[in-house]
Amino acid sequence: MHEFKYIKNDLYCEDLRVSEIAASFGTPLYLYSHKTLLDHFHKLENAFRDVKPLICFSMKANSSLAVCKALIKEGAGLDIVSGGELYKALHIGVDPRKIVYASVGKTASEIESAVSNDILFFNVESMPELEMLNGIATRLNKKVNVSIRLNPDIKAKTHAYIRTARSVDKFGLDYRSCRELFLCSDKFANLNLVGLHIHIGSQIVDSGPFVKAITRAVSLIRELRKKGVVIQWLNIGGGLGIVYHQERPQSASEFASKVLPLLKKIDIKIILEPGRFIAGNSGILVTKVIYLKEAPSKNFIIVDAAMNDLMRPMLYGAYHEILPVYDSSREEFTADVVGPICESGDFLARDRKLSRVQPGELLAIMGTGAYGFTMSSNYNSRPRSAEVMVINSRPYLIRKRERYEDLISSEVIPDCLQ
Ligand SMILES: Cc1ncc(COP(=O)(O)O)c(C=O)c1O
Repeated sequence: MHEFKYIKNDLYCEDLRVSEIAASFGTPLYLYSHKTLLDHFHKLENAFRDVKPLICFSMKANSSLAVCKALIKEGAGLDIVSGGELYKALHIGVDPRKIVYASVGKTASEIESAVSNDILFFNVESMPELEMLNGIATRLNKKVNVSIRLNPDIKAKTHAYIRTARSVDKFGLDYRSCRELFLCSDKFANLNLVGLHIHIGSQIVDSGPFVKAITRAVSLIRELRKKGVVIQWLNIGGGLGIVYHQERPQSASEFASKVLPLLKKIDIKIILEPGRFIAGNSGILVTKVIYLKEAPSKNFIIVDAAMNDLMRPMLYGAYHEILPVYDSSREEFTADVVGPICESGDFLARDRKLSRVQPGELLAIMGTGAYGFTMSSNYNSRPRSAEVMVINSRPYLIRKRERYEDLISSEVIPDCLQ
């Protein structure tokens, strides 16, 4: 569910006309509905209220400061994966005791800054990382909370690039290694190994794989507790799928009804770290038609957004619904929606039946609130787009459109080339 809807053939974001917002802020434009963002956060919070989880929004899905700030104001924590995300999280004033940090490749300096800032948990993914973390914690004279990421060896049904829990994937540790690590935890004097973490992948629409993974985690926790290991936290990750096309994803309450009985079997504090579920349908990418090219074998709608603005179609073959921003009632035709970039992979939709839009008109690429702007780049020296959020009937600019000057601001030409 989201707050982008037609009123008399005009697309609205909440109660504002998308076309008017685009006229004020230009295109391509990421446009968010604050109400939709919060609704999804609260849906999950309500579904899990029996266990009062800490919900850490996964910044990789959308790390725009205003998006994250809107969520932390509602009580969310943040799931980070880099020093940059830590910096942004601290900048917006999140309580560091609500930050969890995953990543298979945390560098020494990233670890040091997260340790110094007393974050809630490091989700540790390997033995060398654990040793590095312990060394840094010892040097800084800190005691650090650690969750070990269990790789439960589960193949969730989703795109191969966003599956993360098969034994051949780079993430986490297998069941036996996790168990051994917890059993020798006193080797790591400056670490509290008190949590278990799983994250099985992204855009997973049914609860089966989550149930399997959590069942494995629960069995490991029970086994360890019998041996005197105290595990106080279970982080069940993110990964909940959303509607892009014809998916029928589980709702938050359906998901909770399947996994809560497992979680309630053990007395434990729960963390969730969803990204897409909260932000995905809260944003659209508004783009302007530049040309219509009707070639003998194919029609192309050439727009001002491209793969540098939205990578998902070219990276994953992802489907995003595309809607005309006004006059949705016209004759339809079939076309590829493509950007100006010099690659045939630069498409936003292929063979799509769409209203016969004209140059200058606007299209809305739906479901782009997660892994949209965060994956954008300056490829082809294209400035990145602006972002706007509608809050209580007002459109707020939350990120300025990049200028050409921004493209060169961090570059240096050596004197010898002058
Ligand atoms: C460790 C971890 N947690 C949470 C997420 C968020 O996943 P999603 O956006 O599917 O909820 C990811 C995504 O890759 C992740 O790697």
